[in-house]
Amino acid sequence: MISNSSAIIVAGSDPLASVVAGALTYLIGEPEVMAHLESEIRSSFPSEKDITAESTKNLPYLQAVLLEALRLCPPVLDSMRRVTPKDGAMIAGHFIPGGIMVGVTAYAAFRAAGTFASPDKFLPERWLQSDSGMQEYPGFHPFGFGPRSCAGQTLAWAEMRLLLTRLIWNFNIRDTKSGTVPPWTS
Ligand code: HEM
Repeated sequence: MISNSSAIIVAGSDPLASVVAGALTYLIGEPEVMAHLESEIRSSFPSEKDITAESTKNLPYLQAVLLEALRLCPPVLDSMRRVTPKDGAMIAGHFIPGGIMVGVTAYAAFRAAGTFASPDKFLPERWLQSDSGMQEYPGFHPFGFGPRSCAGQTLAWAEMRLLLTRLIWNFNIRDTKSGTVPPWTS
């Protein structure tokens, strides 16, 4: 019980705070993206009490911003290891014998130039499709994959949406040294 509780407290607080902090850092460096998000949020909620886990589901640009922040600032830096089955497995075109530990770090997978155009740029638009739904990219699994994927991902999404929406609804968040952008966003 003690170790499960500590896992839930750590897993349930730090990762999503890191993603929202990452989103804000990039938003501050990209005033047009910030303006787009402010406009979507402020035109959707007449008062702060209208901002709920449910109502924020209907904001596609918010979702695109958070997906892009999850891509560029993946909070789980470990390689999410798995062990190959007894008879081995084909992985990315290579045969890997059984019993071998394999993994890929999120940072490398999410910035792969073969998957994402301009991989180091903060471009929420890459997630928006003309019809409903978000663009999907192979290998993008910020919450892991399969039966041991993140147990808290629905809660994490709700918390990230609420946190960022309420911050943007209430405050004009800007770089105080106007004209400068954080070096890692350029
Ligand atoms: C943005 C926020 C979060 C991210 C990016 C994230 C990501 C992940 C990842 C990558 C894993 C490993 C999955 C795998 O091995 O395939 C994981 C596991 C886990 N996460 Fe999260 N997580 C987040 C938030 C949360 C929250 C809010 C909770 C709970 C309140 C939570 C609870 C857990 C638990 C219990 C596991 C272990 C699942 C298992 O081994 O069966 N996570 N998370």
